[in-house]
Amino acid sequence: MKPSGRSDVPPFYVMEVMQAASQREAAGLEVLHLEVGQPSTPAPSGALAAASRALGEDRLGYTGAAGIPELRQRISDWYQERYGLGIPMERIVVTTGASGSCVLGFLSVFDAGDRVVVLEPGYPCYRNDLQAFGVDVLPLAVGHESDFRPTIQQLEAVGPVDGLVIASPSNPTGTVLPETVLRNVIDWATAHDVRLVVDEIYHGISFGVTTPSALAFTDDVLILNSFSKYFSMTGWRLGWIVAPPPVAEAAVRLAQSLTIAPPTISQLAALAAFDCIDELEDNVARYRQNRSVVLDGLAAAGFDRIAPADGAFYAWVDVSALRIGGRQLDSPALCSRWLDELGVATTPGIDFDRRRGRDFVRLSYAGDIAEIGEAMSRIATWTTANR
Ligand SMILES: Cc1ncc(COP(=O)(O)O)c(C=O)c1O
Repeated sequence: MKPSGRSDVPPFYVMEVMQAASQREAAGLEVLHLEVGQPSTPAPSGALAAASRALGEDRLGYTGAAGIPELRQRISDWYQERYGLGIPMERIVVTTGASGSCVLGFLSVFDAGDRVVVLEPGYPCYRNDLQAFGVDVLPLAVGHESDFRPTIQQLEAVGPVDGLVIASPSNPTGTVLPETVLRNVIDWATAHDVRLVVDEIYHGISFGVTTPSALAFTDDVLILNSFSKYFSMTGWRLGWIVAPPPVAEAAVRLAQSLTIAPPTISQLAALAAFDCIDELEDNVARYRQNRSVVLDGLAAAGFDRIAPADGAFYAWVDVSALRIGGRQLDSPALCSRWLDELGVATTPGIDFDRRRGRDFVRLSYAGDIAEIGEAMSRIATWTTANR
Protein backbone atom coordinates (compact mmCIF):
# COMPACT_ATOMS: atom_id res chain seq x y z
CA MET A 1 0.00 0.00 0.00
CA LYS A 2 1.33 3.44 -0.78
CA PRO A 3 0.99 6.35 1.66
CA SER A 4 -1.33 9.21 0.80
CA GLY A 5 0.03 12.26 -0.96
CA ARG A 6 -1.24 14.40 1.90
CA SER A 7 1.00 12.56 4.38
CA ASP A 8 4.08 13.82 2.59
CA VAL A 9 4.90 16.48 5.20
CA PRO A 10 8.51 17.13 6.22
CA PRO A 11 9.77 15.29 9.32
CA PHE A 12 10.97 17.30 12.34
CA TYR A 13 14.72 17.80 12.16
CA VAL A 14 14.76 18.37 15.93
CA MET A 15 14.05 14.64 16.32
CA GLU A 16 17.43 13.96 14.68
CA VAL A 17 19.07 16.33 17.14
CA MET A 18 17.37 14.55 20.04
CA GLN A 19 18.44 11.19 18.66
CA ALA A 20 22.05 12.34 18.32
CA ALA A 21 21.89 13.65 21.90
CA SER A 22 20.52 10.32 23.17
CA GLN A 23 23.22 8.38 21.33
CA ARG A 24 25.82 10.56 23.03
CA GLU A 25 24.24 9.91 26.41
CA ALA A 26 24.04 6.17 25.68
CA ALA A 27 27.79 6.26 25.00
CA GLY A 28 28.28 7.68 28.51
CA LEU A 29 28.94 11.23 27.34
CA GLU A 30 27.36 14.27 28.91
CA VAL A 31 24.65 16.30 27.16
CA LEU A 32 23.42 19.71 28.31
CA HIS A 33 19.90 20.10 26.95
CA LEU A 34 18.85 23.35 25.33
CA GLU A 35 16.90 21.68 22.56
CA VAL A 36 13.88 20.40 24.43
CA GLY A 37 10.72 22.49 24.07
CA GLN A 38 8.96 21.30 27.18
CA PRO A 39 8.98 22.02 30.92
CA SER A 40 11.52 19.98 32.88
CA THR A 41 9.06 19.80 35.79
CA PRO A 42 6.35 17.16 36.28
CA ALA A 43 2.64 17.99 36.51
CA PRO A 44 1.82 20.02 39.61
CA SER A 45 1.39 18.00 42.82
CA GLY A 46 -2.38 18.48 43.02
CA ALA A 47 -2.76 17.12 39.49
CA LEU A 48 -0.63 14.07 40.34
CA ALA A 49 -2.67 13.41 43.50
CA ALA A 50 -5.95 13.74 41.57
CA ALA A 51 -4.67 11.29 38.94
CA SER A 52 -3.69 8.75 41.62
CA ARG A 53 -7.08 9.07 43.25
CA ALA A 54 -8.79 8.65 39.90
CA LEU A 55 -6.86 5.43 39.24
CA GLY A 56 -8.35 3.92 42.40
CA GLU A 57 -11.81 5.41 42.34
CA ASP A 58 -12.83 6.27 38.81
CA ARG A 59 -13.90 3.91 36.05
CA LEU A 60 -11.99 6.14 33.60
CA GLY A 61 -14.40 5.51 30.76
CA TYR A 62 -15.06 7.87 27.88
CA THR A 63 -16.24 11.38 28.66
CA GLY A 64 -18.28 13.62 26.40
CA ALA A 65 -16.43 14.64 23.23
CA ALA A 66 -16.06 18.23 24.48
CA GLY A 67 -14.62 17.11 27.82
CA ILE A 68 -16.12 16.92 31.31
CA PRO A 69 -18.38 19.87 32.15
CA GLU A 70 -16.39 20.59 35.34
CA LEU A 71 -13.19 21.14 33.36
CA ARG A 72 -14.87 23.23 30.67
CA GLN A 73 -16.38 25.36 33.43
CA ARG A 74 -13.01 25.60 35.22
CA ILE A 75 -11.36 26.82 32.02
CA SER A 76 -14.18 29.34 31.63
CA ASP A 77 -13.54 30.53 35.23
CA TRP A 78 -9.83 30.80 34.36
CA TYR A 79 -10.62 33.31 31.61
CA GLN A 80 -12.58 35.32 34.18
CA GLU A 81 -9.84 35.16 36.80
CA ARG A 82 -6.86 35.76 34.53
CA TYR A 83 -8.28 38.07 31.87
CA GLY A 84 -11.58 39.34 33.27
CA LEU A 85 -13.37 37.72 30.32
CA GLY A 86 -16.72 35.95 30.42
CA ILE A 87 -16.37 32.95 28.10
CA PRO A 88 -19.29 30.53 28.39
CA MET A 89 -18.21 26.92 28.74
CA GLU A 90 -20.23 26.00 25.63
CA ARG A 91 -17.54 27.78 23.60
CA ILE A 92 -14.75 25.68 25.15
CA VAL A 93 -13.88 22.25 23.76
CA VAL A 94 -11.25 20.14 25.53
CA THR A 95 -8.74 18.52 23.17
CA THR A 96 -5.74 16.20 23.11
CA GLY A 97 -3.17 18.99 23.60
CA ALA A 98 -2.66 22.02 21.39
CA SER A 99 -1.68 19.51 18.68
CA GLY A 100 -5.22 18.16 18.96
CA SER A 101 -6.47 21.76 19.06
CA CYS A 102 -4.74 22.38 15.71
CA VAL A 103 -6.30 19.30 14.09
CA LEU A 104 -9.78 19.90 15.47
CA GLY A 105 -9.65 23.67 15.11
CA PHE A 106 -8.27 23.74 11.58
CA LEU A 107 -10.75 21.09 10.40
CA SER A 108 -13.57 23.10 12.00
CA VAL A 109 -12.77 26.41 10.29
CA PHE A 110 -10.88 25.71 7.06
CA ASP A 111 -11.81 23.85 3.89
CA ALA A 112 -9.53 22.20 1.35
CA GLY A 113 -8.41 24.86 -1.11
CA ASP A 114 -8.65 27.73 1.39
CA ARG A 115 -5.70 30.12 1.39
CA VAL A 116 -4.23 30.41 4.89
CA VAL A 117 -1.28 32.54 6.01
CA VAL A 118 1.20 31.17 8.56
CA LEU A 119 4.21 33.06 9.86
CA GLU A 120 7.78 32.02 9.15
CA PRO A 121 9.47 31.36 11.52
CA GLY A 122 6.61 29.58 13.20
CA TYR A 123 5.54 26.31 14.76
CA PRO A 124 5.83 23.75 11.94
CA CYS A 125 2.62 21.86 12.77
CA TYR A 126 0.46 24.69 11.49
CA ARG A 127 1.99 24.40 8.04
CA ASN A 128 2.11 20.59 8.05
CA ASP A 129 -1.43 20.04 9.37
CA LEU A 130 -2.92 22.57 6.98
CA GLN A 131 -1.02 21.09 4.06
CA ALA A 132 -2.28 17.61 4.96
CA PHE A 133 -5.82 19.00 5.05
CA GLY A 134 -5.48 20.30 1.50
CA VAL A 135 -5.23 23.94 2.50
CA ASP A 136 -3.09 26.26 0.42
CA VAL A 137 -0.47 27.43 2.95
CA LEU A 138 1.01 30.89 2.42
CA PRO A 139 4.16 31.46 4.51
CA LEU A 140 4.72 35.08 5.56
CA ALA A 141 8.31 35.90 6.50
CA VAL A 142 8.75 37.98 9.67
CA GLY A 143 12.16 39.12 10.84
CA HIS A 144 14.26 41.55 12.82
CA GLU A 145 12.84 44.58 11.00
CA SER A 146 9.42 44.10 12.64
CA ASP A 147 10.61 42.31 15.80
CA PHE A 148 9.29 39.06 14.25
CA ARG A 149 5.70 40.37 14.27
CA PRO A 150 3.48 40.55 11.19
CA THR A 151 2.69 44.03 9.88
CA ILE A 152 -0.58 45.05 8.28
CA GLN A 153 1.31 46.09 5.13
CA GLN A 154 2.69 42.57 4.84
CA LEU A 155 -0.73 41.02 5.35
CA GLU A 156 -2.28 43.37 2.80
CA ALA A 157 0.41 42.41 0.31
CA VAL A 158 -0.49 38.70 0.40
CA GLY A 159 -3.75 39.35 -1.46
CA PRO A 160 -7.11 37.73 -0.74
CA VAL A 161 -6.85 35.01 1.92
CA ASP A 162 -9.28 32.92 3.96
CA GLY A 163 -7.31 32.48 7.15
CA LEU A 164 -4.38 33.54 9.30
CA VAL A 165 -2.65 31.59 12.08
CA ILE A 166 -0.56 33.46 14.65
CA ALA A 167 0.93 32.63 18.04
CA SER A 168 1.71 34.85 20.99
CA PRO A 169 4.11 34.19 22.66
CA SER A 170 5.59 32.45 19.65
CA ASN A 171 7.55 29.25 19.27
CA PRO A 172 10.39 29.55 18.17
CA THR A 173 10.91 33.29 18.69
CA GLY A 174 9.45 33.86 22.17
CA THR A 175 8.02 37.08 20.78
CA VAL A 176 4.76 38.46 22.18
CA LEU A 177 2.28 40.47 20.14
CA PRO A 178 1.57 43.64 22.11
CA GLU A 179 -2.03 44.78 22.42
CA THR A 180 -1.78 47.33 19.59
CA VAL A 181 -0.37 44.77 17.13
CA LEU A 182 -2.92 42.15 18.15
CA ARG A 183 -5.79 44.64 17.78
CA ASN A 184 -4.53 45.74 14.36
CA VAL A 185 -4.31 42.13 13.17
CA ILE A 186 -7.81 41.41 14.49
CA ASP A 187 -9.19 44.56 12.80
CA TRP A 188 -7.51 43.55 9.55
CA ALA A 189 -8.95 40.02 9.79
CA THR A 190 -12.43 41.35 10.57
CA ALA A 191 -12.32 43.88 7.71
CA HIS A 192 -11.26 41.22 5.21
CA ASP A 193 -13.43 38.38 6.53
CA VAL A 194 -10.31 36.36 7.34
CA ARG A 195 -10.74 33.49 9.83
CA LEU A 196 -8.21 34.15 12.57
CA VAL A 197 -6.55 31.44 14.67
CA VAL A 198 -4.47 32.47 17.67
CA ASP A 199 -2.26 29.95 19.47
CA GLU A 200 -2.03 31.04 23.12
CA ILE A 201 -0.27 27.90 24.37
CA TYR A 202 2.55 29.91 26.01
CA HIS A 203 0.23 32.27 27.87
CA GLY A 204 1.28 32.49 31.51
CA ILE A 205 4.97 32.36 30.57
CA SER A 206 6.05 35.92 29.81
CA PHE A 207 8.52 38.37 31.23
CA GLY A 208 7.69 42.00 31.93
CA VAL A 209 5.09 42.27 29.17
CA THR A 210 1.36 41.62 29.18
CA THR A 211 -0.07 38.90 26.96
CA PRO A 212 -3.66 39.87 26.23
CA SER A 213 -5.87 37.11 24.89
CA ALA A 214 -7.33 37.81 21.46
CA LEU A 215 -10.66 37.03 23.13
CA ALA A 216 -10.43 40.43 24.84
CA PHE A 217 -10.97 42.09 21.44
CA THR A 218 -13.12 39.70 19.45
CA ASP A 219 -15.34 36.66 19.85
CA ASP A 220 -14.83 35.80 16.19
CA VAL A 221 -11.55 33.96 16.69
CA LEU A 222 -10.36 30.40 17.18
CA ILE A 223 -8.07 30.11 20.21
CA LEU A 224 -5.70 27.14 20.61
CA ASN A 225 -4.40 26.33 24.07
CA SER A 226 -2.99 23.50 26.13
CA PHE A 227 -2.00 22.17 29.52
CA SER A 228 1.47 21.36 28.16
CA LYS A 229 3.44 24.51 28.93
CA TYR A 230 2.27 26.78 31.79
CA PHE A 231 0.53 23.83 33.47
CA SER A 232 3.59 21.59 32.92
CA MET A 233 1.57 18.58 31.71
CA THR A 234 3.03 17.74 28.29
CA GLY A 235 2.61 13.98 28.32
CA TRP A 236 -0.96 14.18 29.60
CA ARG A 237 -2.00 15.27 26.10
CA LEU A 238 -4.64 17.77 27.05
CA GLY A 239 -5.56 21.16 25.66
CA TRP A 240 -8.57 23.18 24.60
CA ILE A 241 -9.99 25.45 21.97
CA VAL A 242 -12.27 28.43 22.36
CA ALA A 243 -14.44 29.14 19.34
CA PRO A 244 -17.62 30.98 18.36
CA PRO A 245 -20.67 28.77 19.12
CA PRO A 246 -21.22 27.34 15.61
CA VAL A 247 -17.52 26.44 15.30
CA ALA A 248 -17.45 24.93 18.81
CA GLU A 249 -20.48 22.80 17.84
CA ALA A 250 -18.74 21.72 14.62
CA ALA A 251 -15.61 20.86 16.62
CA VAL A 252 -17.61 18.67 19.01
CA ARG A 253 -19.20 16.82 16.09
CA LEU A 254 -15.76 16.22 14.55
CA ALA A 255 -14.24 15.23 17.92
CA GLN A 256 -16.91 12.55 18.36
CA SER A 257 -15.48 10.86 15.27
CA LEU A 258 -11.81 11.81 15.57
CA THR A 259 -11.05 11.06 19.21
CA ILE A 260 -14.40 10.19 20.93
CA ALA A 261 -13.12 12.12 23.96
CA PRO A 262 -9.97 13.63 25.42
CA PRO A 263 -8.13 11.42 27.97
CA THR A 264 -10.25 11.08 31.11
CA ILE A 265 -7.49 10.77 33.70
CA SER A 266 -5.78 13.84 32.29
CA GLN A 267 -8.99 15.85 32.52
CA LEU A 268 -9.39 14.95 36.19
CA ALA A 269 -5.76 15.85 36.84
CA ALA A 270 -6.02 19.14 34.93
CA LEU A 271 -9.02 20.17 36.99
CA ALA A 272 -6.80 19.96 40.09
CA ALA A 273 -3.91 21.76 38.34
CA PHE A 274 -5.86 25.01 38.60
CA ASP A 275 -5.43 24.78 42.40
CA CYS A 276 -1.63 24.66 42.10
CA ILE A 277 -0.95 28.13 40.80
CA ASP A 278 1.88 28.80 43.32
CA GLU A 279 3.83 25.83 41.97
CA LEU A 280 3.23 26.93 38.39
CA GLU A 281 4.31 30.47 39.14
CA ASP A 282 7.50 29.07 40.72
CA ASN A 283 8.20 27.42 37.37
CA VAL A 284 7.74 30.75 35.61
CA ALA A 285 10.10 32.42 38.11
CA ARG A 286 12.69 29.77 37.26
CA TYR A 287 12.23 30.38 33.51
CA ARG A 288 12.79 34.08 34.20
CA GLN A 289 16.14 33.34 35.87
CA ASN A 290 17.08 30.91 33.11
CA ARG A 291 16.23 33.52 30.51
CA SER A 292 18.68 36.00 32.07
CA VAL A 293 21.40 33.36 32.05
CA VAL A 294 20.76 32.62 28.36
CA LEU A 295 20.62 36.27 27.31
CA ASP A 296 23.81 37.08 29.28
CA GLY A 297 25.50 34.03 27.77
CA LEU A 298 24.50 35.04 24.25
CA ALA A 299 25.90 38.53 24.82
CA ALA A 300 29.16 37.02 26.11
CA ALA A 301 29.31 34.84 22.99
CA GLY A 302 28.88 37.92 20.80
CA PHE A 303 25.37 37.16 19.51
CA ASP A 304 23.42 40.39 19.45
CA ARG A 305 20.64 39.69 16.95
CA ILE A 306 18.03 37.87 18.99
CA ALA A 307 14.25 38.02 18.61
CA PRO A 308 12.56 39.83 21.54
CA ALA A 309 12.51 36.99 24.10
CA ASP A 310 9.38 38.23 25.85
CA GLY A 311 7.68 34.93 26.52
CA ALA A 312 7.65 31.13 26.20
CA PHE A 313 11.07 29.68 27.04
CA TYR A 314 12.99 30.20 23.80
CA ALA A 315 15.67 32.45 22.40
CA TRP A 316 15.77 32.69 18.59
CA VAL A 317 19.32 33.58 17.75
CA ASP A 318 20.61 34.88 14.42
CA VAL A 319 23.94 33.12 13.89
CA SER A 320 24.47 34.29 10.31
CA ALA A 321 27.21 36.77 11.22
CA LEU A 322 29.31 34.15 13.01
CA ARG A 323 32.49 33.18 11.19
CA ILE A 324 34.37 30.09 12.33
CA GLY A 325 37.87 29.95 10.90
CA GLY A 326 36.79 32.65 8.44
CA ARG A 327 33.82 30.60 7.20
CA GLN A 328 30.12 30.85 7.84
CA LEU A 329 28.57 27.74 9.37
CA ASP A 330 24.89 27.14 8.79
CA SER A 331 22.82 26.33 11.86
CA PRO A 332 22.64 22.52 11.33
CA ALA A 333 26.45 22.43 11.09
CA LEU A 334 26.88 24.79 14.04
CA CYS A 335 24.46 22.86 16.27
CA SER A 336 26.13 19.62 15.33
CA ARG A 337 29.55 21.00 16.29
CA TRP A 338 28.19 22.32 19.59
CA LEU A 339 26.81 18.87 20.36
CA ASP A 340 29.99 17.02 19.34
CA GLU A 341 32.55 19.42 20.79
CA LEU A 342 30.70 20.91 23.79
CA GLY A 343 28.02 18.35 24.61
CA VAL A 344 25.43 21.12 24.21
CA ALA A 345 22.22 20.19 22.33
CA THR A 346 20.45 23.05 20.54
CA THR A 347 17.93 23.22 17.69
CA PRO A 348 18.81 24.53 14.23
CA GLY A 349 16.11 26.82 12.86
CA ILE A 350 15.24 24.76 9.77
CA ASP A 351 12.06 23.16 11.19
CA PHE A 352 10.61 26.57 11.93
CA ASP A 353 11.68 28.50 8.87
CA ARG A 354 12.29 26.55 5.70
CA ARG A 355 13.83 29.51 3.90
CA ARG A 356 15.96 31.30 6.50
CA GLY A 357 16.24 28.66 9.21
CA ARG A 358 19.87 27.95 8.39
CA ASP A 359 20.69 31.38 9.82
CA PHE A 360 19.02 30.73 13.18
CA VAL A 361 19.35 28.54 16.25
CA ARG A 362 16.64 28.04 18.86
CA LEU A 363 17.74 27.73 22.47
CA SER A 364 15.23 26.43 25.00
CA TYR A 365 15.64 27.57 28.60
CA ALA A 366 12.94 25.35 30.07
CA GLY A 367 15.53 23.22 31.88
CA ASP A 368 17.78 23.41 34.90
CA ILE A 369 19.58 26.70 35.62
CA ALA A 370 22.96 25.13 36.43
CA GLU A 371 22.88 23.09 33.21
CA ILE A 372 21.87 26.12 31.18
CA GLY A 373 24.60 28.26 32.80
CA GLU A 374 27.25 25.66 32.01
CA ALA A 375 25.99 25.30 28.42
CA MET A 376 26.05 29.05 27.83
CA SER A 377 29.53 29.38 29.26
CA ARG A 378 30.80 26.58 26.96
CA ILE A 379 29.16 28.26 23.94
CA ALA A 380 30.72 31.63 24.83
CA THR A 381 34.20 30.13 25.32
CA TRP A 382 33.96 28.10 22.08
CA THR A 383 32.67 31.01 20.03
CA THR A 384 35.38 33.34 21.29
CA ALA A 385 38.14 30.78 20.73
CA ASN A 386 37.01 29.80 17.21
CA ARG A 387 36.05 33.17 15.74
C1 LIG B 1 3.36 26.97 19.52
C2 LIG B 1 2.97 25.57 19.85
N1 LIG B 1 1.72 25.18 19.59
C3 LIG B 1 1.32 23.92 19.84
C4 LIG B 1 2.19 22.99 20.40
C5 LIG B 1 1.69 21.59 20.68
O1 LIG B 1 1.68 21.36 22.05
P1 LIG B 1 0.87 20.21 22.78
O2 LIG B 1 0.26 19.35 21.76
O3 LIG B 1 1.85 19.50 23.65
O4 LIG B 1 -0.17 20.90 23.62
C6 LIG B 1 3.50 23.37 20.70
C7 LIG B 1 4.45 22.40 21.26
O5 LIG B 1 5.60 22.65 21.49
C8 LIG B 1 3.90 24.70 20.43
O6 LIG B 1 5.13 25.12 20.69
